[in-house]
Amino acid sequence: MDKLAITGGTRLEGEVRISGAKNSALPLLAATILASTPVTLNNVPDLHDIKTMMRILSHMGMTITKGENGQVIIDANTLTQAVAPYELVKTMRASIFVLGSLVTRFKEAYVSLPGGCAIGSRPVDQHLKALEALGAVVTVEKGYVHAKVDGRLRGGRILFDVVTVGGTENAMMAATLAEGTTIIENAAREPEVVDLANMLKKMGANIEGAGTDRIVIEGVEALTGCEYSVCPDRIETGSYLAAAVVTGGRIRATHTDPKLLDAVLLKFLEMGALVSTGEDWIEIDMQGKRPRAVSFRTLPHPAFPTDMQAQFMAINAISEGTSTVNETIFENRFMHVPELNRMGANIEVDGHTAVVRGVGKLDGAPVMATDLRASMSLVLAALAAEGDTVIDRIYHIDRGYERVEEKLSLLGAKIRRISSRVNA
Ligand code: UD1
Repeated sequence: MDKLAITGGTRLEGEVRISGAKNSALPLLAATILASTPVTLNNVPDLHDIKTMMRILSHMGMTITKGENGQVIIDANTLTQAVAPYELVKTMRASIFVLGSLVTRFKEAYVSLPGGCAIGSRPVDQHLKALEALGAVVTVEKGYVHAKVDGRLRGGRILFDVVTVGGTENAMMAATLAEGTTIIENAAREPEVVDLANMLKKMGANIEGAGTDRIVIEGVEALTGCEYSVCPDRIETGSYLAAAVVTGGRIRATHTDPKLLDAVLLKFLEMGALVSTGEDWIEIDMQGKRPRAVSFRTLPHPAFPTDMQAQFMAINAISEGTSTVNETIFENRFMHVPELNRMGANIEVDGHTAVVRGVGKLDGAPVMATDLRASMSLVLAALAAEGDTVIDRIYHIDRGYERVEEKLSLLGAKIRRISSRVNA
């Protein structure tokens, strides 16, 4: 397994180009199942999770042609079997996204129950409930979800018990080809939901209200292919800007969109950063200062995202003052805390709340990545720490950050990948 070795203490400076959003590209790839002609996707990030989704699509018989610069052309007409097998699904929860598209277009689907990040039990009951509300017969057999419909799905009312991003996306995809009107209430408002709705509309779908908590979809008989660009990754953006804050540096993130990061940028301001923005860039200048600790609570969009919680915890660990971090979206999403404490942080966890007492400095140490965003939290802590840190199980970071060591090196970080082949 690859590791990352980081020597901390360098102030990071420069420009970093942000990639397409993983969390957008995954549902967009699943949505290509719906199209009767090929879809061309641009700005698709080169990430482990994206490769997994493409493997699932090609396992089903779909034709995938890769072009230059993150272009992917996908033809669903060659699909031969609507099956997403356990071997592929087990590493990535987002595999469940193919369920809605498959059942609405091909009338039947077998999708293994997913795995993914070890951050709590993360059920898919809301996805299944939504498909049932549209007339699918859904059963779980031997670890597989089997969804089936005679004829077309029919429009219906879906009221989610919890705000679920993936559930909203799956329901939206299924409803595009259903007969009649579907109303999704308590819908997720994340930018990735809006990105998916925009692509579906380009394919001929009739969707209103994406970005609000009530989405109305008028089903159509068929969708066609289109060309579409994946929106910028707001979490990758926030993570690199966090690297400026934690090292006292100055970083400009380009090819991004400041409108996607309101809640995060406000917290950077509270930490004492200078924040400037243009249409497609954001710059953070920490002017060598130590950040001020900020308290926050994770909530669905547009509030503070759970996917930035671990990174902010790393900043809080070295900030001036004490902060309280409340995680309301996922259980068990504090697995970075013991690792940060190994580096000298002072963080106490009580249930869903962590109290972080800022310490003057962190020390490099061997640590272990436990999930995708926790990995970035450890990278940030290592960049700020005195001495050397080796982060094990770095495959987690490759699921969501494109060429992370290359991008950080360009900003001046002392970072290198220790390939497992060297260790063997
Ligand atoms: C998506 C993001 C992930 C982010 C999360 C919350 C992708 C690929 N991943 O994950 O990075 O952290 O949104 O912003 O887009 N829940 C249920 N039943 C369900 C579905 C969800 O109880 O059927 C619960 C979950 O356990 C969790 C909460 O709802 O507590 C939110 O989960 P959800 O929004 O669905 O997350 P994902 O779509 O999996």
